[in-house]
Amino acid sequence: MNNPYLPIAATIEEIIEESASIKTFVIRPDEEIVFETGQFVELTVPGVGEAPFTPSSSPSVSERMEITIMEAGSITRLLHGMSPGAKVGLRGPYGVGYPLEKFRGRPVVIVGGGVGLAPLRSLLLALMEEIQLYDTIYLKYGAKTPGDIIYRRLIPEWAEVEGLDVTLTVDGGDEDWKGNVGVVTTILDDGRIDPAKAVAVACGPPIMMKFATSRLLELGYREDEIYLSMERNMSCGIGKCGHCRLGEYYICKDGPVFTWNKIKHVEEPFA
Ligand SMILES: Cc1cc2nc3c(=O)[nH]c(=O)nc-3n(C[C@H](O)[C@H](O)[C@H](O)COP(=O)(O)OP(=O)(O)OC[C@H]3O[C@@H](n4cnc5c(N)ncnc54)[C@H](O)[C@@H]3O)c2cc1C
Ligand code: FES
Repeated sequence: MNNPYLPIAATIEEIIEESASIKTFVIRPDEEIVFETGQFVELTVPGVGEAPFTPSSSPSVSERMEITIMEAGSITRLLHGMSPGAKVGLRGPYGVGYPLEKFRGRPVVIVGGGVGLAPLRSLLLALMEEIQLYDTIYLKYGAKTPGDIIYRRLIPEWAEVEGLDVTLTVDGGDEDWKGNVGVVTTILDDGRIDPAKAVAVACGPPIMMKFATSRLLELGYREDEIYLSMERNMSCGIGKCGHCRLGEYYICKDGPVFTWNKIKHVEEPFA
Protein backbone atom coordinates (compact mmCIF):
# COMPACT_ATOMS: atom_id res chain seq x y z
CA MET A 1 0.00 0.00 0.00
CA ASN A 2 1.26 3.51 -0.81
CA ASN A 3 2.56 5.52 2.15
CA PRO A 4 0.31 8.63 2.27
CA TYR A 5 3.04 10.63 4.00
CA LEU A 6 5.63 10.05 1.27
CA PRO A 7 6.16 13.24 -0.73
CA ILE A 8 6.79 13.47 -4.46
CA ALA A 9 10.31 14.76 -5.14
CA ALA A 10 10.29 18.25 -6.63
CA THR A 11 12.73 20.95 -7.77
CA ILE A 12 12.51 24.67 -7.16
CA GLU A 13 12.89 26.20 -10.62
CA GLU A 14 12.54 29.88 -9.85
CA ILE A 15 12.12 32.15 -6.85
CA ILE A 16 10.37 35.50 -7.23
CA GLU A 17 10.65 38.11 -4.51
CA GLU A 18 7.19 39.58 -3.86
CA SER A 19 7.99 41.73 -0.80
CA ALA A 20 10.58 41.86 2.01
CA SER A 21 9.07 38.79 3.69
CA ILE A 22 7.20 36.99 0.88
CA LYS A 23 8.55 34.96 -2.04
CA THR A 24 6.90 32.91 -4.78
CA PHE A 25 8.49 29.51 -5.43
CA VAL A 26 8.00 27.96 -8.87
CA ILE A 27 8.26 24.22 -8.22
CA ARG A 28 8.35 21.31 -10.67
CA PRO A 29 7.31 17.98 -9.10
CA ASP A 30 8.72 14.76 -10.62
CA GLU A 31 5.10 13.61 -11.10
CA GLU A 32 2.23 15.92 -12.06
CA ILE A 33 0.02 17.10 -9.20
CA VAL A 34 -3.58 17.86 -10.12
CA PHE A 35 -5.38 20.10 -7.63
CA GLU A 36 -8.58 22.11 -7.34
CA THR A 37 -8.31 25.79 -6.50
CA GLY A 38 -8.48 26.22 -2.70
CA GLN A 39 -6.96 22.81 -1.89
CA PHE A 40 -3.57 22.75 -0.16
CA VAL A 41 -0.35 20.73 -0.30
CA GLU A 42 2.34 19.84 2.24
CA LEU A 43 5.73 21.17 1.14
CA THR A 44 8.70 19.23 2.54
CA VAL A 45 12.20 20.44 3.24
CA PRO A 46 14.04 17.10 3.07
CA GLY A 47 15.40 15.94 6.41
CA VAL A 48 13.79 18.86 8.28
CA GLY A 49 10.00 18.88 8.07
CA GLU A 50 7.00 20.10 6.16
CA ALA A 51 4.37 22.84 6.22
CA PRO A 52 0.99 23.35 4.51
CA PHE A 53 0.54 25.88 1.71
CA THR A 54 -2.15 26.59 -0.86
CA PRO A 55 -0.84 26.79 -4.43
CA SER A 56 -1.08 30.29 -5.90
CA SER A 57 -0.94 29.09 -9.52
CA SER A 58 -3.76 28.03 -11.82
CA PRO A 59 -5.27 24.58 -11.17
CA SER A 60 -5.18 24.00 -14.93
CA VAL A 61 -1.37 23.66 -14.77
CA SER A 62 -0.33 20.37 -13.15
CA GLU A 63 3.32 19.96 -14.17
CA ARG A 64 4.46 23.10 -12.33
CA MET A 65 3.14 24.65 -9.15
CA GLU A 66 3.66 28.13 -7.72
CA ILE A 67 3.50 28.61 -3.97
CA THR A 68 3.77 32.06 -2.41
CA ILE A 69 5.28 31.88 1.06
CA MET A 70 5.66 34.37 3.88
CA GLU A 71 8.61 33.84 6.21
CA ALA A 72 7.00 32.89 9.55
CA GLY A 73 9.24 30.38 11.36
CA SER A 74 11.69 27.53 10.91
CA ILE A 75 10.51 25.82 7.68
CA THR A 76 9.62 29.01 5.87
CA ARG A 77 12.97 30.57 6.87
CA LEU A 78 14.80 27.59 5.35
CA LEU A 79 12.69 27.85 2.18
CA HIS A 80 13.43 31.58 1.90
CA GLY A 81 17.16 30.76 2.10
CA MET A 82 17.00 28.31 -0.85
CA SER A 83 18.06 28.93 -4.44
CA PRO A 84 16.74 27.63 -7.78
CA GLY A 85 17.74 23.99 -8.25
CA ALA A 86 17.07 23.09 -4.59
CA LYS A 87 15.23 19.81 -3.99
CA VAL A 88 12.01 19.76 -1.96
CA GLY A 89 9.00 17.43 -1.69
CA LEU A 90 5.26 17.84 -2.23
CA ARG A 91 2.36 15.71 -1.04
CA GLY A 92 -1.30 16.31 -1.62
CA PRO A 93 -3.51 17.93 -2.72
CA TYR A 94 -5.69 17.82 0.38
CA GLY A 95 -8.97 19.27 1.53
CA VAL A 96 -11.90 20.80 -0.28
CA GLY A 97 -11.55 23.76 -2.61
CA TYR A 98 -13.93 26.44 -3.87
CA PRO A 99 -17.18 25.20 -5.48
CA LEU A 100 -16.77 27.21 -8.70
CA GLU A 101 -20.00 25.82 -10.16
CA LYS A 102 -21.93 27.67 -7.42
CA PHE A 103 -20.21 30.97 -8.36
CA ARG A 104 -21.32 30.92 -12.01
CA GLY A 105 -23.53 33.77 -13.21
CA ARG A 106 -22.96 35.75 -10.02
CA PRO A 107 -20.74 38.65 -8.87
CA VAL A 108 -17.70 37.18 -7.08
CA VAL A 109 -16.08 39.41 -4.47
CA ILE A 110 -12.55 38.29 -3.58
CA VAL A 111 -11.25 39.84 -0.36
CA GLY A 112 -7.55 39.40 0.40
CA GLY A 113 -5.23 40.62 3.12
CA GLY A 114 -1.42 40.37 3.00
CA VAL A 115 -0.14 36.95 1.93
CA GLY A 116 -3.80 35.81 1.91
CA LEU A 117 -3.88 36.94 -1.72
CA ALA A 118 -1.73 33.87 -2.55
CA PRO A 119 -4.48 31.20 -2.44
CA LEU A 120 -6.88 33.75 -3.92
CA ARG A 121 -4.59 34.23 -6.91
CA SER A 122 -5.16 30.58 -7.81
CA LEU A 123 -8.91 31.19 -7.57
CA LEU A 124 -8.63 34.39 -9.60
CA LEU A 125 -6.69 32.60 -12.36
CA ALA A 126 -9.29 29.80 -12.44
CA LEU A 127 -12.12 32.36 -12.70
CA MET A 128 -10.27 34.38 -15.35
CA GLU A 129 -9.89 31.27 -17.54
CA GLU A 130 -13.70 31.11 -17.90
CA ILE A 131 -14.56 34.71 -17.03
CA GLN A 132 -17.59 34.79 -19.34
CA LEU A 133 -19.33 32.31 -17.00
CA TYR A 134 -19.36 34.79 -14.10
CA ASP A 135 -20.83 38.19 -13.43
CA THR A 136 -18.15 40.79 -12.57
CA ILE A 137 -15.26 39.60 -10.41
CA TYR A 138 -14.22 42.17 -7.80
CA LEU A 139 -10.75 41.81 -6.28
CA LYS A 140 -10.40 43.84 -3.08
CA TYR A 141 -6.94 43.56 -1.64
CA GLY A 142 -5.32 45.22 1.36
CA ALA A 143 -1.69 45.28 2.50
CA LYS A 144 0.10 47.13 5.29
CA THR A 145 2.14 49.41 3.00
CA PRO A 146 2.63 49.72 -0.78
CA GLY A 147 5.84 47.67 -0.38
CA ASP A 148 3.84 44.81 1.14
CA ILE A 149 1.55 44.43 -1.89
CA ILE A 150 2.32 41.08 -3.51
CA TYR A 151 2.05 40.33 -7.26
CA ARG A 152 2.78 43.99 -8.07
CA ARG A 153 4.15 42.74 -11.41
CA LEU A 154 0.75 41.13 -12.25
CA ILE A 155 -1.82 43.57 -10.85
CA PRO A 156 -1.60 46.06 -13.78
CA GLU A 157 -2.43 43.15 -16.17
CA TRP A 158 -5.36 42.07 -14.01
CA ALA A 159 -6.70 45.65 -13.94
CA GLU A 160 -6.97 45.50 -17.77
CA VAL A 161 -9.07 42.31 -17.83
CA GLU A 162 -12.67 42.91 -18.88
CA GLY A 163 -15.02 41.63 -16.18
CA LEU A 164 -12.42 41.97 -13.43
CA ASP A 165 -12.45 45.01 -11.17
CA VAL A 166 -9.40 45.56 -8.94
CA THR A 167 -9.34 47.81 -5.85
CA LEU A 168 -6.28 48.05 -3.63
CA THR A 169 -5.85 49.64 -0.25
CA VAL A 170 -2.96 50.05 2.19
CA ASP A 171 -3.04 50.69 5.94
CA GLY A 172 -0.43 53.40 5.45
CA GLY A 173 0.62 54.98 2.13
CA ASP A 174 3.83 56.71 1.06
CA GLU A 175 4.43 59.81 -1.11
CA ASP A 176 3.92 57.79 -4.35
CA TRP A 177 0.73 56.01 -3.25
CA LYS A 178 -2.36 57.40 -5.02
CA GLY A 179 -4.83 54.67 -4.01
CA ASN A 180 -7.08 54.12 -1.04
CA VAL A 181 -5.71 54.28 2.49
CA GLY A 182 -7.46 52.21 5.16
CA VAL A 183 -8.00 48.58 6.09
CA VAL A 184 -9.60 46.24 3.56
CA THR A 185 -13.07 46.51 5.16
CA THR A 186 -13.13 50.18 4.01
CA ILE A 187 -13.34 49.09 0.35
CA LEU A 188 -16.05 46.42 0.76
CA ASP A 189 -18.98 48.83 0.65
CA ASP A 190 -19.32 49.04 -3.15
CA GLY A 191 -22.58 50.39 -4.58
CA ARG A 192 -22.07 48.38 -7.80
CA ILE A 193 -22.46 45.03 -6.02
CA ASP A 194 -25.79 43.52 -4.92
CA PRO A 195 -24.80 41.52 -1.79
CA ALA A 196 -27.95 39.42 -2.05
CA LYS A 197 -26.73 38.05 -5.41
CA ALA A 198 -22.99 37.97 -4.74
CA VAL A 199 -20.57 35.38 -3.45
CA ALA A 200 -17.72 36.61 -1.23
CA VAL A 201 -14.42 34.78 -0.72
CA ALA A 202 -11.92 35.90 1.91
CA CYS A 203 -8.40 34.92 2.92
CA GLY A 204 -5.98 36.78 5.14
CA PRO A 205 -4.71 37.16 8.68
CA PRO A 206 -7.18 36.15 11.44
CA ILE A 207 -8.02 39.72 12.48
CA MET A 208 -8.78 40.71 8.90
CA MET A 209 -10.95 37.62 8.40
CA LYS A 210 -12.92 38.47 11.53
CA PHE A 211 -13.63 42.08 10.54
CA ALA A 212 -14.18 41.29 6.86
CA THR A 213 -16.78 38.64 7.78
CA SER A 214 -18.62 41.08 10.11
CA ARG A 215 -18.63 43.78 7.44
CA LEU A 216 -19.83 41.43 4.71
CA LEU A 217 -22.69 40.29 6.97
CA GLU A 218 -23.60 43.92 7.78
CA LEU A 219 -23.67 44.68 4.06
CA GLY A 220 -26.16 41.86 3.49
CA TYR A 221 -24.03 39.03 2.10
CA ARG A 222 -25.59 35.65 2.91
CA GLU A 223 -23.93 33.49 5.58
CA ASP A 224 -23.79 30.54 3.21
CA GLU A 225 -22.26 32.69 0.45
CA ILE A 226 -19.25 33.90 2.45
CA TYR A 227 -16.36 31.48 1.80
CA LEU A 228 -13.48 31.65 4.27
CA SER A 229 -10.09 29.98 3.89
CA MET A 230 -9.23 28.84 7.42
CA GLU A 231 -5.85 28.05 8.96
CA ARG A 232 -4.60 26.13 11.96
CA ASN A 233 -1.26 24.49 12.69
CA MET A 234 -1.33 21.18 10.84
CA SER A 235 0.57 17.95 11.07
CA CYS A 236 -0.70 14.96 9.08
CA GLY A 237 -2.83 16.90 6.58
CA ILE A 238 -5.11 13.88 6.09
CA GLY A 239 -7.55 13.88 9.01
CA LYS A 240 -5.60 11.55 11.33
CA CYS A 241 -3.81 13.60 14.01
CA GLY A 242 -6.45 16.11 15.17
CA HIS A 243 -4.04 19.09 15.15
CA CYS A 244 -6.21 21.19 12.88
CA ARG A 245 -9.51 20.94 14.75
CA LEU A 246 -12.07 23.72 14.18
CA GLY A 247 -15.14 22.85 16.25
CA GLU A 248 -16.37 19.50 14.96
CA TYR A 249 -14.30 19.82 11.76
CA TYR A 250 -10.75 19.03 10.72
CA ILE A 251 -9.53 21.89 8.55
CA CYS A 252 -7.31 19.57 6.51
CA LYS A 253 -10.17 17.26 5.54
CA ASP A 254 -13.40 19.29 5.78
CA GLY A 255 -11.77 22.59 4.73
CA PRO A 256 -9.66 24.64 4.40
CA VAL A 257 -12.54 26.48 2.71
CA PHE A 258 -15.71 26.83 4.84
CA THR A 259 -18.82 28.94 4.45
CA TRP A 260 -19.58 31.19 7.43
CA ASN A 261 -22.86 29.41 8.27
CA LYS A 262 -20.90 26.16 8.86
CA ILE A 263 -18.41 27.61 11.35
CA LYS A 264 -20.16 30.59 12.94
CA HIS A 265 -20.96 28.59 16.10
CA VAL A 266 -17.28 27.71 16.68
CA GLU A 267 -15.70 29.53 19.62
CA GLU A 268 -13.05 31.93 18.32
CA PRO A 269 -12.96 30.61 14.73
CA PHE A 270 -10.33 33.21 13.79
CA ALA A 271 -7.97 32.48 16.72
C1 LIG B 1 -4.32 25.20 4.59
C2 LIG B 1 -3.20 26.19 4.81
C3 LIG B 1 -2.73 26.92 3.73
C4 LIG B 1 -1.68 27.83 3.91
N1 LIG B 1 -1.24 28.54 2.84
C5 LIG B 1 -0.21 29.40 2.98
C6 LIG B 1 0.29 30.12 1.85
O1 LIG B 1 -0.19 29.98 0.70
N2 LIG B 1 1.32 30.96 2.06
C7 LIG B 1 1.90 31.14 3.32
O2 LIG B 1 2.84 31.92 3.44
N3 LIG B 1 1.42 30.47 4.39
C8 LIG B 1 0.41 29.60 4.25
N4 LIG B 1 -0.06 28.91 5.35
C9 LIG B 1 0.61 29.12 6.66
C10 LIG B 1 1.87 28.26 6.72
O3 LIG B 1 1.51 26.89 6.75
C11 LIG B 1 2.68 28.61 7.99
O4 LIG B 1 3.16 29.92 7.89
C12 LIG B 1 3.84 27.65 8.11
O5 LIG B 1 3.35 26.37 8.50
C13 LIG B 1 4.82 28.14 9.16
O6 LIG B 1 5.82 27.15 9.26
P1 LIG B 1 7.24 27.48 9.89
O7 LIG B 1 7.91 26.17 10.19
O8 LIG B 1 7.99 28.43 9.04
O9 LIG B 1 6.86 28.25 11.19
P2 LIG B 1 6.80 27.64 12.69
O10 LIG B 1 8.19 27.66 13.20
O11 LIG B 1 6.02 26.36 12.70
O12 LIG B 1 5.87 28.71 13.35
C14 LIG B 1 6.05 30.10 13.33
C15 LIG B 1 4.86 30.75 13.98
O13 LIG B 1 3.72 30.62 13.14
C16 LIG B 1 2.68 29.89 13.80
N5 LIG B 1 2.06 29.05 12.80
C17 LIG B 1 2.57 27.97 12.20
N6 LIG B 1 1.69 27.48 11.30
C18 LIG B 1 0.60 28.29 11.37
C19 LIG B 1 -0.65 28.29 10.73
N7 LIG B 1 -1.00 27.39 9.83
N8 LIG B 1 -1.53 29.27 11.05
C20 LIG B 1 -1.23 30.18 11.96
N9 LIG B 1 -0.07 30.23 12.61
C21 LIG B 1 0.83 29.28 12.32
C22 LIG B 1 3.35 29.11 14.90
O14 LIG B 1 2.46 28.80 15.94
C23 LIG B 1 4.45 30.09 15.31
O15 LIG B 1 3.97 31.09 16.14
C24 LIG B 1 -1.11 28.01 5.21
C25 LIG B 1 -1.58 27.26 6.27
C26 LIG B 1 -2.62 26.36 6.10
C27 LIG B 1 -3.11 25.57 7.26
S1 FES C 1 -3.60 18.02 10.23
FE1 FES C 1 -3.91 16.07 11.17
S2 FES C 1 -6.08 15.96 11.35
FE2 FES C 1 -5.74 17.77 10.19
